[in-house]
Amino acid sequence: MIIAANFKTNHTRAATEAYLEKVTAYIAEADIADEVMVFPPATALCSGKGGVTVGAQNAWATENGAYTGEIGTEQLDEFGIRTILIGHSERRHILGESQALVAEKFAYFKALGYRIVYCIGEPLEVREAGNEALMTYLAEQLEGIDLSYENLVIAYEPVWAIGTGRVPSESEIELIHGALAKLTTAPLLYGGSVKVGNAAAILALDHVDGALVGSGALDADDFCRMIATAKQIKKQEV
Ligand code: PGA
Repeated sequence: MIIAANFKTNHTRAATEAYLEKVTAYIAEADIADEVMVFPPATALCSGKGGVTVGAQNAWATENGAYTGEIGTEQLDEFGIRTILIGHSERRHILGESQALVAEKFAYFKALGYRIVYCIGEPLEVREAGNEALMTYLAEQLEGIDLSYENLVIAYEPVWAIGTGRVPSESEIELIHGALAKLTTAPLLYGGSVKVGNAAAILALDHVDGALVGSGALDADDFCRMIATAKQIKKQEV
């Protein structure tokens, strides 16, 4: 299982340090073997340790250069960061990243061997248009993406479920994840309003290999509870 926390524009450097301290202590104490990732804001990037992989929420497809407001691999290398989120719906819809740009970033970081957590997900109007429209939309978000890339993780995050408290039904999640599993062997994360209360049910679903959690993971204790849940689910599978 992969349990990932996406802080978005939340937490300071100091808060991130305190958070990571709690989580690494928990991982050691509970003997967690699952993969734990944390994506802090750019100002709080740091080296991962103690079973936590720290990743970047975003970077420009460059080593360095004139890209005001962006960071490149020079800034990530300072912390040994080799994991990145690409294609998150907030970057697509709020910040206007096109599929072409997302695919360019993917190609750049793939060439460098980064672990890429590649996000896809449909807005509500697409979901309401039915399964065919939904699958077509998701296929468009996979255009230009190498689904056989060995360091790929896919996160399916319906836009209407992100930060809203709304979650697709279990069968809806299984339908999408099952379809994705036919296209790739990459681990498949579900994201969108995952919380302590629903993590067990979601993580237990077929073809769900983990979760990408935003607001529900902002509290380190809650995140640790979800890590504990993932560990238990793995035990049941054995
Ligand atoms: P949420 O966000 O858990 O707050 O819904 C998930 C995400 O956007 O990755």
